[in-house]
Amino acid sequence: MTDLASARDLDKKEALAAFLASYPHFEETRALDALRARDFARLDDQGHVYLDYTGGGLYADSQILRHMELLRTSVFGNPHSTNPTSLGTTDLVARCRRRVLAFFNASPDEYGVIFTANASHALKLIGESYPFEPGDQFLLTFDNHNSVNGIREFDRVHGAETTYIPVSPPDMRVDESVLDAQLDRGRPDGNNLFAYPAQSNFSGVQHPLEWIDRAQAKGWNVLLDAAAFVPTNRLDLSRCRPDYVALSFYKMFGYPTGVGAMIARWPALAKLHRPWFAGGTITVASVQADRHYLAAGEEAFEDGTLDYANIPAVDHGLDFLDSIGLEIINSRVKCLTGWLIDSLLALHHGNGRPLVHLYGPAETRGRGGTVTFNFFDRSGQVIDHELVEEKANRRQISLRTGCFCNPGAGEMALGLSKSELVSCFTSAEGEMTYEDFRHCIDGKSTGAVRVSVGVVSNFDDVWAFVRFARDLVED
Ligand SMILES: Cc1ncc(COP(=O)(O)O)c(C=O)c1O
Repeated sequence: MTDLASARDLDKKEALAAFLASYPHFEETRALDALRARDFARLDDQGHVYLDYTGGGLYADSQILRHMELLRTSVFGNPHSTNPTSLGTTDLVARCRRRVLAFFNASPDEYGVIFTANASHALKLIGESYPFEPGDQFLLTFDNHNSVNGIREFDRVHGAETTYIPVSPPDMRVDESVLDAQLDRGRPDGNNLFAYPAQSNFSGVQHPLEWIDRAQAKGWNVLLDAAAFVPTNRLDLSRCRPDYVALSFYKMFGYPTGVGAMIARWPALAKLHRPWFAGGTITVASVQADRHYLAAGEEAFEDGTLDYANIPAVDHGLDFLDSIGLEIINSRVKCLTGWLIDSLLALHHGNGRPLVHLYGPAETRGRGGTVTFNFFDRSGQVIDHELVEEKANRRQISLRTGCFCNPGAGEMALGLSKSELVSCFTSAEGEMTYEDFRHCIDGKSTGAVRVSVGVVSNFDDVWAFVRFARDLVED
């Protein structure tokens, strides 16, 4: 940090000058400002300060126009048939699968793409099909989305063991010696599944991709939740080779929603046993013979009719990201994130107490553009995150509050102990609302404030948020 310590007192012009002095690489990303004016004009026309890219990416006008043109000029029939309109759709879906593989630099000889409804659906497919048996292991970081945590319900049913690896505040990273000790516990002939996010949707931490090789060498299948990582970082599947990858395309480029993917290595896919069959997933099934044969490869995992009118829009979204270059997006996100963190941490009340407590790394190395924290008043009391959201809403600032479906990271960050959580969860009969939970935790914060930047974020966005934060400073 430089002279940003006095960010509280700077006006916008001065702040911009200080920002550019501290983050000179921002100038190399100016093309994104032109892109915003051209393809995302609705943001500024409507006065939105969009700071929820980890919740959902934004689409460019050009993506929508291209997709509309395709729909207008094509006749798409339901795939799974040999009629001309059906074949056309089948070809388009196949082309899109190849495009997804090419984008992630994955060889079709090594990886397949299963289209799903979203990342959660991909994760559920893996969880319900992974061949857990008694004594098998499901290892995961505390820092995981609930859609990964939910896999523990499948492993329990089959008698496997769930083990969580903690993350430690303030950086919210994993102690690698703990990770290594857990990886050493994989059963040599068992089924060992290790799951972690390439980027945390809570703290923005990027957990090392080097873990993949390390875990596989010790006999683990690795499930990489890439949902929060891929919108602003290059995932190169020729350099790191997780067995399973889960993602949602709307997080990368806003449109289409309702389409995600499981990208899986062929041997890892062959290891999965689907617990049911459906239209589209079999070659033949008989009622009287009471048998069915699963289709080979991806099709065995795609239940019913794919979202074939929308899947081609994935192609357009990937083209869009390629036309900009993920590297320039990554560079801009780093600059804005660094400045945002510097500026927030520089804010203090008149009595010297800090306004902000950050949950995650204060530097840009090994982190993405997701910044999570709580505000505290001059007496050191947390300012309720719901109140912060209400105030932000009034300024057209879109941010997130709560625990972002990542309770493990939240519990670690907020210092909620196992005993108090167990006591709360066992005290409730049958049901528990979020309000009951807040009441039970009594006085401690149960959530935080999250802002996240992405493809067309600009200085004005983060400046608007820093000004918003400055208004919470008390004399
Ligand atoms: C890291 C991570 N994993 C999984 C998900 C689930 O994605 P979806 O809701 O699209 O299924 C999210 C969504 O926020 C996420 O951030």
